[in-house]
Amino acid sequence: MIRVFELCLMLGALIRVAAASMGGFSFNGNIELAGVAEVSADNLFRLTNTTYFSVGRAFYAQPQTVKNSSNGKAFSFSTTFVFAIVTDESKLNGHGMAFVISPSKELSSGASSQHLGLFNRTNNGNSSNHIVAVELDTFRNQEFNDINDNHVGIDINSLTSVKSFPAGYFEDATGEFQNLSMVSGERIQAWVEYDATVNQLNVTLAPIHLSKPRLPLLSLDIDISPVILDQMYVGFSSATGRLVQSHYVLGWSFQMEGKAQLDLSRLPSVPGNQQSKSRSKELAIGLSISGVVLAAIIFSFIVFLSMKRKDKFTEIIEDWEVQYGPHRFSYKDLFAATKGFRETELLGKGGFGEVYKGVLPVSKTQVAVKRISHNSKQGMKEFVAEIATIGRLRHPNLVRLLGYCRGEGQLLLVYDYMPNASLDKFIYNKAQVTVNWVQRFKIIKDVALALTYLHEEWVEVIVHRDIKASNVLLDSDLRAKLGDFGLARSSKRTQDPQTTHVAGTFGYIAPELAKNGRATPSTDVYAYGAFCLEVVCGRRPVESRVSPEEVALVDWVYQRWREGKILSTVDPKLNKDIKIEEAELVLKLGLLCSHPMAEIRPRMSQVLQYLKGDASLPENFDFHVLGQDQKGESYKPAILSYSTPSITFTESFKSVGR
Ligand SMILES: *[C@@H]1O[C@H](CO)[C@@H](O)[C@H](O)[C@H]1NC(C)=O
Ligand SMILES: *[C@@H]1O[C@H](CO)[C@@H](O)[C@H](O)[C@H]1NC(C)=O
Ligand SMILES: *[C@@H]1O[C@H](CO)[C@@H](O)[C@H](O)[C@H]1NC(C)=O
Ligand SMILES: *[C@@H]1O[C@H](CO)[C@@H](O)[C@H](O)[C@H]1NC(C)=O
Ligand SMILES: *[C@@H]1O[C@H](CO)[C@@H](O)[C@H](O)[C@H]1NC(C)=O
Ligand SMILES: *[C@@H]1O[C@H](CO)[C@@H](O)[C@H](O)[C@H]1NC(C)=O
Repeated sequence: MIRVFELCLMLGALIRVAAASMGGFSFNGNIELAGVAEVSADNLFRLTNTTYFSVGRAFYAQPQTVKNSSNGKAFSFSTTFVFAIVTDESKLNGHGMAFVISPSKELSSGASSQHLGLFNRTNNGNSSNHIVAVELDTFRNQEFNDINDNHVGIDINSLTSVKSFPAGYFEDATGEFQNLSMVSGERIQAWVEYDATVNQLNVTLAPIHLSKPRLPLLSLDIDISPVILDQMYVGFSSATGRLVQSHYVLGWSFQMEGKAQLDLSRLPSVPGNQQSKSRSKELAIGLSISGVVLAAIIFSFIVFLSMKRKDKFTEIIEDWEVQYGPHRFSYKDLFAATKGFRETELLGKGGFGEVYKGVLPVSKTQVAVKRISHNSKQGMKEFVAEIATIGRLRHPNLVRLLGYCRGEGQLLLVYDYMPNASLDKFIYNKAQVTVNWVQRFKIIKDVALALTYLHEEWVEVIVHRDIKASNVLLDSDLRAKLGDFGLARSSKRTQDPQTTHVAGTFGYIAPELAKNGRATPSTDVYAYGAFCLEVVCGRRPVESRVSPEEVALVDWVYQRWREGKILSTVDPKLNKDIKIEEAELVLKLGLLCSHPMAEIRPRMSQVLQYLKGDASLPENFDFHVLGQDQKGESYKPAILSYSTPSITFTESFKSVGR
């Protein structure tokens, strides 16, 4: 019994299926597509395009008898196919594809992303899957012990490969290993051969212009008989997640008990890849047995397309979430990026959760992943909406929030990774070189720019709610970026910003915020004032280990100002290179911004004008008189008089530089 079918993809609607037999056997058939798999506009056979979280499959419609039912022994088989993986530079690339031998062509439990449409979290590794696959994996999943982000693996019922090797081939002449980048967009030929007499499975790869290398890339001694059933389907499965790329199969031949051959002269070229243009743009499925063509059947595209079942395999995304698609990361991607939230990747810990460093493989983008626990679904919806808003913000002085992920009782926020430490490290860490005056003044302006954008330039008013030195991160050029929007809440311009919890950090909380729990742009300005003083004075807004009159920074600076000694508050580390007028300006501005009465505080755009020298601070700004509240008590910063359990302490998202 010898059976072969060959799949080549040719022009237009023509799908030629030929069947022949030796020993009276014959069958007719075609290729069934599932998920997002399609014949693309340029007549190419594409398993996935760049749709997020999608699965694409193509199976030969008829099952193959792969095992002798009387003795339970698998038959030998051989298959060869040509594939190409095309990436989109603007997107993160992943996950890969697989040649599959499966008891069913439905594979309804196959999830997207790293599961390649083969398995899901529950059934991965279960021997009742009866699946043999050869993965062409372009993403390194730690959970499956992947060796790298460009490898070939033999998978038995599990995505944790039994054997794997970096994609490439061994040169016939020298025996030397040559790398092949599977995401290069180049056409690559693969061979999967099983010899039942010696129980050996070989996998070989080569660039299209080379003939089959003598040495296989992978050779595994295995008897697949116990794994497979008598009747199995053969085909391909592929998936995208947050990471996307197009997977093409350009030609395929499969043969039981023999050697599969593929006519490479008729292979189509790959889009966006000039080098591999070929004359032929044919699309055909040829099925022949022993090279003898018995019948030819023409199928139409309509049949092809009607077999498609869209979106059946996409990951579960709740309805309200769909609109945030681009901001949604898959849990498993982040799990992989952070090496399974490994201790070694931890950047910092805070009241809300931990921050991990992560590297999105393939793109090698460094990110900071903040893990927050959550429980309420309602709150989650609002939170995600907010994150989506914040994710659209783009400003050179804001740390970018790239997206989020809801996963298993927790919320993950993904930010740009900042290689330098947060500003407080520079100000307080005595071991480290401190930032000089010019740099500090620039940082103060940078943060003002960021806040002006949030308060006055974005379509909605965004209240940051947690401005402090530890939330200001420095990039490699010491450009300041305001980070941690985890707590920020946006509010429509017309609406009164309402919040249910007081959030913020002691020393930065405006008196009225402590009283009524309402965060407004003005409470941000208050915190910004405290921040300015912090940066110039080189001390925290509240310091318990100093004399009582110095505990509150605002009070202390104000006191010194009244005594005509405002410059004595300046960070001693700065004294040499300080610009007196600038330091005085920032100190007074800090006091004005941290004024106990919200009406007196400037808007951020005004703050910018003062800093640029386009406007001068109000002459008659008398902190003392205005510092009395209505009850006539002398002004005390909220930090001293206020304490309540409803305050949420926050920790910044910090990156620790090396
Ligand atoms: C990908 O293919 C699917 C199914 O044909 C289609 O609905 C979707 O618009 C395509 N997406 C992109 C990004 O090309
Ligand atoms: C299947 O196994 C039986 C028993 O060993 C043997 O007689 C028969 O020839 C085998 N069939 C094929 C197609 O190899
Ligand atoms: C995985 O697939 C199985 C079988 O279809 C299903 O019962 C199970 O719920 C799926 N698990 C997940 C996590 O999707
Ligand atoms: C494997 O899957 C079968 C059928 O779905 C199930 O009954 C069995 O409990 C699973 N085994 C494991 C170890 O999960
Ligand atoms: C293949 O790639 C790996 C990783 O990029 C590299 O370390 C190795 O030297 C390369 N080998 C060859 C033969 O190019
Ligand atoms: C697998 O490769 C080895 C060489 O490493 C070769 O001897 C053997 O015949 C091959 N087996 C199959 C099934 O192609």
